[in-house]
Amino acid sequence: MKIMIVGADGQLGSDLCRVVPSAEQIPLTVREIDVTDRERTAAAVAKYAPQAVINTAGYHRVDDCEDHAREAFAVNALGAKYLAEACRAAGAALMHISTDYVFAGEKQAPYTESDAPGPQTLYGISKLAGEFCVRYLLKEHFIVRTAGLYGRAGCLGKGGGNFVENMIRLAKSRPELKVVTDEIVSPTYTRDLARKLYELAGGAEYGLYHIVNHGRCSWYDFTVKIFELLNEKVTVKPALAAEFPAKAKRPRYSALANARLAAQGRDDLRDWPAALRAYLIESGHLREGKQ
Ligand SMILES: NC(=O)c1ccc[n+]([C@@H]2O[C@H](COP(=O)([O-])OP(=O)(O)OC[C@H]3O[C@@H](n4cnc5c(N)ncnc54)[C@H](OP(=O)(O)O)[C@@H]3O)[C@@H](O)[C@H]2O)c1
Repeated sequence: MKIMIVGADGQLGSDLCRVVPSAEQIPLTVREIDVTDRERTAAAVAKYAPQAVINTAGYHRVDDCEDHAREAFAVNALGAKYLAEACRAAGAALMHISTDYVFAGEKQAPYTESDAPGPQTLYGISKLAGEFCVRYLLKEHFIVRTAGLYGRAGCLGKGGGNFVENMIRLAKSRPELKVVTDEIVSPTYTRDLARKLYELAGGAEYGLYHIVNHGRCSWYDFTVKIFELLNEKVTVKPALAAEFPAKAKRPRYSALANARLAAQGRDDLRDWPAALRAYLIESGHLREGKQ
């Protein structure tokens, strides 16, 4: 099976390139396929004739989206539309990556695929618009909502690095870290997500899926766990999101549940602490066997 990976040098895209066998992958960066360009997107999909396209492209600097809605919609909504059209013309399935930020964040239990979205940011609105475009235009689609991604390549769209690396770096230069307790998320290792995406692309029911590492935590809990696993003494102080004013208001609660995967007997993702530990080992921060 030939799988086109859009955003192949991104955080998730890089792990997809590690997981999908090289004979099966067509890895494309923004230089080879810019999803905001309708003609070039159609031409690239037609040229490579993949059976499936995985779209990891995103404009996801959440605060910037508030002032740059045009750019956010160009990538997150129109880009998804152009890819769906291109896939339809080429007879390919489309796996489109979306976000927990499509939810309002008022629920007190993990959001499932049957919960109604209610985005509270331009980022979330543009991603939800992308979901609708894909659903509308192409029956052979997977929409995969995920959350709190961290991976070895770091997040290109947010200037490189990821939450884990940022905390490790900050801890070297600050006497203490202050991290929020009132944003509850499902942090997810891109390697684990990539494995599941590849499995689904190989043959699963089309439609909407949530895919995250199991469990939920605040960013504060997550940070404490990073240094606990590294066995490093770092003072992590609890803080409230209101102490870090930002343009876009993050959902207070956006943990996801892999309900559809579970119903299909496919939910074998690991718990977030186990995934975090694997990341720390695979990224060279922790030696295997330690802890
Ligand atoms: N990071 C998170 O915590 C998180 C959480 C939930 C959902 N998501 C979603 O997951 C997806 C992957 O996230 P990620 O963390 O892997 O992001 P990333 O590291 O920024 O990767 C995105 C990739 O898409 C490329 N790209 C950007 N604009 C493009 C365009 N117009 N056409 C083609 N490619 C383009 C980027 O290239 P350049 O950077 O070179 O432009 C990059 O290679 C995104 O759709 C995001 O919305 C992310």
